[in-house]
Amino acid sequence: MNEREMIAVGVETFGGPLRTLRLPVTAAGPGEVLVRVAAAAVNPADLGMVAGRYRWNDEVRFPLVPGYDVAGTDEATGQPVVAFTAHKSTQRGGYAEFVTLPADLVVPLPDGVAAVDAAPLPLAGMTALQALDAIDEVDTLLVNGPRGAVGSLIVQLATARGTTVVPADDPGPVDAAVDVVGGAVARAAFDRVRDHGRYATVVPEFWVPGGPFAADRGITPQVVSVRHDRNGLVELVEHLAAGTLTAKVGLVLPLTDAAQAHRIVGRSEGAPKVTGKIVLVP
Ligand SMILES: NC(=O)c1ccc[n+]([C@@H]2O[C@H](COP(=O)([O-])OP(=O)(O)OC[C@H]3O[C@@H](n4cnc5c(N)ncnc54)[C@H](OP(=O)(O)O)[C@@H]3O)[C@@H](O)[C@H]2O)c1
Repeated sequence: MNEREMIAVGVETFGGPLRTLRLPVTAAGPGEVLVRVAAAAVNPADLGMVAGRYRWNDEVRFPLVPGYDVAGTDEATGQPVVAFTAHKSTQRGGYAEFVTLPADLVVPLPDGVAAVDAAPLPLAGMTALQALDAIDEVDTLLVNGPRGAVGSLIVQLATARGTTVVPADDPGPVDAAVDVVGGAVARAAFDRVRDHGRYATVVPEFWVPGGPFAADRGITPQVVSVRHDRNGLVELVEHLAAGTLTAKVGLVLPLTDAAQAHRIVGRSEGAPKVTGKIVLVP
């Protein structure tokens, strides 16, 4: 029998160019869902994946198809869905016409929610929820990249919970800060937190154990490393469907233009600046 094939985009070696590939479609096994991808979001982590700066649970299998976030339909039932690919464990990427995932990662999408609007939600949204869990309930919060994907979702979710999100240029101490940028900007956010306040970063590569972010002034920094949380994803989808949460999309590109998406996200010389997520459409 002929194997079913699909178009995907991936690399054949770390650091290699992103290429359009013809790959077999993996049939859904027990407890899995075959998702026909309608939209795949591009995340900064995808650049680390293809460069080899990313830690998977198992040895990497090539070709490597990146991508954490997809929306589309369950091929077996026609149900619209949104899914987190949990690439760290599955190594199944969203930059493809189809992706086969454990059912736990796949959440139904209500009618009326466009795949392009839902695709940017899983990774950035679950990270935002987990960053808010890390700082717990506070009255005032600083987010140092409030227009980015994770940052803007933190701002919306925190505001909905009654927290006052303080603009970065507003002087004075805050109860908590969440860093979504890293580097010197992270330090500046940390310095704004009142004594015994809360601080969390989602940029762990800038974390230096025992360094400038060691417990200081009674503040113990929390490092958020996203983990799949089905209930959290369901909650995010409910907010999206109710119109109380938006993951801003800045650019929609054909899947085969994934390399251009990576140039934009990586801020390569000459690449246009895009505010909001880039979504790839097969
Ligand atoms: N820990 C985890 O599990 C986890 C999960 C998801 C994401 N992340 C990480 O979180 C970070 C944000 O991800 P994202 O998807 O939200 O990216 P994004 O949409 O590109 O947002 C990045 C934000 O950082 C701001 N920024 C960048 N450089 C800056 C600087 N020098 N000064 C001030 N602001 C600056 C950008 O502002 P402008 O656009 O205005 O420049 C933008 O608001 C990435 O490093 C990503 O790898 C970690």
